[in-house]
Amino acid sequence: MPARLRALQADITTLALDAIVNAANNSLLGGGGVDGAIHRAAGPQLLAECRGLGGCATGDAKLTRGHLLPARYVIHTVGPVWRGGAQDEAELLASCYRRALEVAAENGLASLAFPAISTGAYGYPAEPAARIAVGAVREAVRIHPTVREIIFCCHSRSCLDVYEKLLSA
Ligand code: APR
Repeated sequence: MPARLRALQADITTLALDAIVNAANNSLLGGGGVDGAIHRAAGPQLLAECRGLGGCATGDAKLTRGHLLPARYVIHTVGPVWRGGAQDEAELLASCYRRALEVAAENGLASLAFPAISTGAYGYPAEPAARIAVGAVREAVRIHPTVREIIFCCHSRSCLDVYEKLLSA
């Protein structure tokens, strides 16, 4: 039975899943956007735990506990900054989704939500980013059958429309 993939419009910090994915920066020491929202909701212990991780390479992913969040864990990943598409951005973005799913599977996490990684401050165009996200996740859930539920958590209606179109195709 394949994993269930769906799109939701919600604040990712409210989702009570095994894990939510954070669109972080290489320092893992917090920021704005969804990173800021997750740290605010998780409380200061999240930052304290992140300090011990030694940062995160673009395209990689690292696990922390969820602390005060309803989600049990946070999988921090760092998306590429959009620089026009000729600097390996597509591959690095796909890697964020693949690595996050790998970390989930390695830790026995069955349900997780992704924000639209890199499409905010990092400027990645929404539609190409969503296409990469859905493609990478569809491929990764075949490799990691223990991951059963994936939510693409959109913060805007326009983002939700993009994901719903791709998921219905
Ligand atoms: N829930 C779900 N999605 C959210 C939330 C939220 N609470 N807040 C923002 N988003 C959405 C944005 O609308 C965007 O679609 O997350 C997506 C990613 O946007 P950013 O958070 O700006 O992340 P990104 O583009 O990957 O830039 C990362 O921004 O916050 C800093 O520290 C972070 O330096 C890093 C950079």
